[in-house]
Amino acid sequence: MNILIKNIRQLLQVRDTPVQKVSGREMKNLPVIENAYLYIENNTIADYGKMEDLPETKANEIIDAAGKVVMPAWCDSHTHIVYAGNREQEFVDRINGLSYEEIANRGGGILNSAKKLEETPEDDLYRQSAKRLEEVIAMGTGAIEIKSGYGLSTDAELKMLRVIRRLQTNYDIPIKATFLGAHAIPANYRNDRKGYIDLLINEMIPAIAEKGLAEYVDVFCEKGYFTTEETERILEAGKAFGLVPKIHVNQFHAIGGIQTGIKHNALSVDHLEVMRDEDIEALKGSKTMPVALPSCSYFLSIPYTPARKMIDAGLPLALATDYNPGSTPSGNMNFVVATACIKMKITPEEAINAATVNGAYAMGLSDTHGSITRGKEANLIITRDIPGYAFLPYAFGNNHIDTVLIRGKVVTP
Ligand code: NIG
Ligand code: FE
Repeated sequence: MNILIKNIRQLLQVRDTPVQKVSGREMKNLPVIENAYLYIENNTIADYGKMEDLPETKANEIIDAAGKVVMPAWCDSHTHIVYAGNREQEFVDRINGLSYEEIANRGGGILNSAKKLEETPEDDLYRQSAKRLEEVIAMGTGAIEIKSGYGLSTDAELKMLRVIRRLQTNYDIPIKATFLGAHAIPANYRNDRKGYIDLLINEMIPAIAEKGLAEYVDVFCEKGYFTTEETERILEAGKAFGLVPKIHVNQFHAIGGIQTGIKHNALSVDHLEVMRDEDIEALKGSKTMPVALPSCSYFLSIPYTPARKMIDAGLPLALATDYNPGSTPSGNMNFVVATACIKMKITPEEAINAATVNGAYAMGLSDTHGSITRGKEANLIITRDIPGYAFLPYAFGNNHIDTVLIRGKVVTP
């Protein structure tokens, strides 16, 4: 199937020479072709340019995108969309005055989700997760990472990762799997945290690696969860089996998790709501992508990642949803981009770079996704009629998406 999209008002994120990521000042540059065409051959981007240079094509289908913006689909590098049930009661408890930490200390939070997941048959878990995946694809997500971490036992972690494997098989977008057994200490190990970490290292990681069920290893490096020393042990064990670190750090406290991540060549360090100057310094010159999750800050009313300061210091930044039942029950990248502009004071160009090319980097997908480049997969968003791309974050909360294409196939009606 060959598709020609013509009369595009703005074609965004056009990179003839693909870049791995954009950092600092470069993030202000979002390359755009006005009044453009885009030609898709089979699953990939074959050609693009100005309408006046449109060559003869062998298109079987022509889409007229007059008044519309066309851009690479969002690259959401941090989610937990495989989970069972919901946690609306905790949401109400927080409105009534309890904090996220207080709820967790009472056995709610991650342990609440672990209990629900344990009781949910694998097929049911798959159905619930597939529904979420379809919802986020319809909102323009064209590449995603999914973590385990609501299992907290070997069997339940494997169950989650098998569900991710089934999603990978049944859906056309790239899905990266991350093992997050170190999400919390499960209730049955409350008095034996070393025992749980030994289980992670000696049983879970080898079992997962043997079955090839994950590419990345994650740890919730945070007060009350896992210390930097424990994080190091787990990352080293993962690395011995070829798992690349991608970790939760600095959500509530700065305890040195960023430094631990960089030391172990983490692909990304995520959350970063609490950043010290030394944390920003540590990231300079590293290959580790800092990832901000503004809808988590929004939902929990915690500080926003100091993205402005980080980009001004020359760092790259990626944006992701953190879609999960506790801290961010939303997988809407459009909202993430708008919230980053509104609350973190980054520009639409910076936010769109953060949510496409830099998101792709944080999943090891820069060569195939995240920009309009010849030969990359045709995972694309066609917006409704809008005056220009800044309208996407400006008119926040509205649905601006007309059509989503995944590997050159229209997936929205
Ligand atoms: O990324 N911070 C740790 N993990 C998730 C939330 C987990 C939960 O509350 O279920 C997060 O925010
Ligand atoms: Fe998370």
